[in-house]
This record gives sequence, structure tokens and C-alpha cells, in this order.
Amino acid sequence: MKNLLTKLKNNQKLCYDEFLFLLDNRELFADEIAKMARQTQRQNFGNKVFLRGLIEFGNCCQNDCYYCGIRKSNKNAQRYRLDKEQILSCCKVGYQVGYRTFVLQSGEDAFFTTDKITDIVKSIKTNFPDCAVTLSVGERPKSDYQAWHDAGADRYLLRHETADQNHYALLHPDDMSWQNRMDCLQNLRDIGYQVGCGIMVGSPYQTNEHIAKDLVFMQQFAPEMVGIGPFIPHNDTPFANCKSGSVELTLFLLSLVRVILPDVLLPATTALGTADKDGRERGILAGANVCMPNLSPQHAKQKYTLYNDKLCSGAESADEHEQLKTKLKNIGYDVVTNRGDHKKFIQEGKTDV
Ligand code: 5AD
Repeated sequence: MKNLLTKLKNNQKLCYDEFLFLLDNRELFADEIAKMARQTQRQNFGNKVFLRGLIEFGNCCQNDCYYCGIRKSNKNAQRYRLDKEQILSCCKVGYQVGYRTFVLQSGEDAFFTTDKITDIVKSIKTNFPDCAVTLSVGERPKSDYQAWHDAGADRYLLRHETADQNHYALLHPDDMSWQNRMDCLQNLRDIGYQVGCGIMVGSPYQTNEHIAKDLVFMQQFAPEMVGIGPFIPHNDTPFANCKSGSVELTLFLLSLVRVILPDVLLPATTALGTADKDGRERGILAGANVCMPNLSPQHAKQKYTLYNDKLCSGAESADEHEQLKTKLKNIGYDVVTNRGDHKKFIQEGKTDV
């Protein structure tokens, strides 16, 4: 046990069996790993938290993921799309409050063609040249990813959901492929995006063996960003009766990821904030260093329901933004107004601001 902690402290890589041992015995390791995570966070980021303004610009989705509330078969979902002007006005409000990254997320929706998204990215970059744009619009051909990168998109979030192919098949219908998801992540990396992968904690059928595989994958892929939140069931999905993922395991994994990927940009996710009223703060204290408040218009927020009772408070007003600042201040953290790129990209001069 000491041996494993020493390895972690010395930034040595762990193998699958070692991760599995940590997970199977996590009550023995949790305090020490949380402490290491806080130290690493402090060394690399001080008490700074980066903000990303999330814009959920559409909930139409052609996929039928068994866990997700906006899956195509959910006839109860009220579908919407924001147009470019609506998206730009979200950015404008966000910019005034201090956001310098906009995350554009939607379902997988062919309506948003290569050119439409290119146009949206270009418009944001023209109007807000000192801001980073993150896309999160799912699996697309490499040529789309390239076009959007050429248009100025900086980062891309695409959770791998699970590093185990069989587990993937239990969460997704047959027309979705784990290999394609992995290929997309590699394509994004090859093009030069800052890339984010990630998982839901406690998704149906998930075991510690699966999570150990996720950790091996993340350690090797070394993404610039990692999204980790608890699974929360949605009433209108095949997983309606499954139980939510554990908040405590989520916090443990945030800490572990902070330790194995010291520079990673790691959000305290909305799902964590939904599962526990202090979830976001606890996430930051566990080693997360990013908050992603919602800048979408109220009507959109209410319809972008990936899971039951999803938090739909945001920071679209100066007031709510101040409340968030105060909450973070109360646990000893300050928000920063800059793009918050990954260190590797700043060092390599790959960021233009
Ligand atoms: N609970 C928690 N997270 C979910 N996501 C989708 N559905 C749920 C759910 N029911 C996550 C997925 C996806 C991201 C956008 O939201 O991991 O990649």
C-alpha cells in the first residue's frame, strides 16, 4: 500500500492491477490521495478556478444512448435549437461577466452541418477574439473536426464513457461503436485540439475493473481535460430504475485523476452539483479546478435534461456569477478571468492569446 502511494507521489505510472487494488481498497487510500490531490492542485494552480461558460445550443440527438435523457427515442423531450444570433448573445452576456471560454454543447444533430458549426465558431472568434471555443457535439468525421479547428475551435470534449468495449455495448445501442469513439478522440488529438475525455461514475453495469481500465486509458492518452460526474438516472430512459453513481467515489476519482494527470483541467461537473448540494465545492476541494456554469437561456436549460433534476441554475446574470464567486471564495478559491489553456499548449506556444 505504501508502495502504491509512493509511486503516485513520484509521478510513476500505475498498471491496471494497481489501479484496481486502489479502487477495491479505496477506504484505505481515500484520505491520503485526497491530500495529495490538494497539494498537486495548489502547486500547479494555486487557489485558482477556471470558468467555462456552457452554452447548450440544441438537444436534438440522433443517438439512442440508454442513459441519456435527450436520446432520440425519448418522445417526452421538448426539442430545441438555438440559432447563431442566440448563441452569440449568450456569449455577449458571458463575456461581460468575465468568461473567456465558451463551451458549445449539443446532441448529435446532423442539422448542424459542417458549415453551420464552422460559421458559428468563426463568428464567436471574430466577436470575441480573446476567447477560447470548446466544442462538444459528439462523433463526427475527421474532416469536420479539421474544418472547425481551422475555423478557430480550440478544444473538444468527447467523453469516452468507458474504456471497456463490452461495457460500452451495454450502455449504447448496436449502431454505436466504442472503436469509433476512440478513433474520434485520436483524430481530435492528431488535429491539435486540447482534448477532453471522461466517464460517468456508477453507470449501469460499471465495475471497479472497468474504472481501472478507464484510469489506465486516461494515464496513457493524457487528455488535457477530463469530465467525471456521477451517473444520474433519467425517468424516460431504459435506465430509469438504475441507481445513481456514488458522490464519494466520484470525489475519489477526481482526486486520483488530479494526481496521475497533475496539469489536467478538471471540472467539478453539473452532475456532481446535482447529486449533492455541495457537490461542486466538494469537487474543487477534491482536486477539480474548473467550473462550467450554464449560460444557456432559461428555456433551453430546462429542456437540456440529460438526467433527472439536472441543476439549471446558471451564471447568466451578474448576480448569479457573484454568488458563484462567493461560494468559491468561502472555500478559499478565486475565479480567474482568462482562457485557462492547458499548460502544455501554453508552453508550446500553440495558443494565440
Ligand atoms: N447521468 C450523468 N451523466 C450523463 N451524461 C449523459 N447522460 C447522463 C446521465 N444520465 C453525460 C455523458 C455525456 C455527457 C454530455 O453527459 O457522459 O458524455
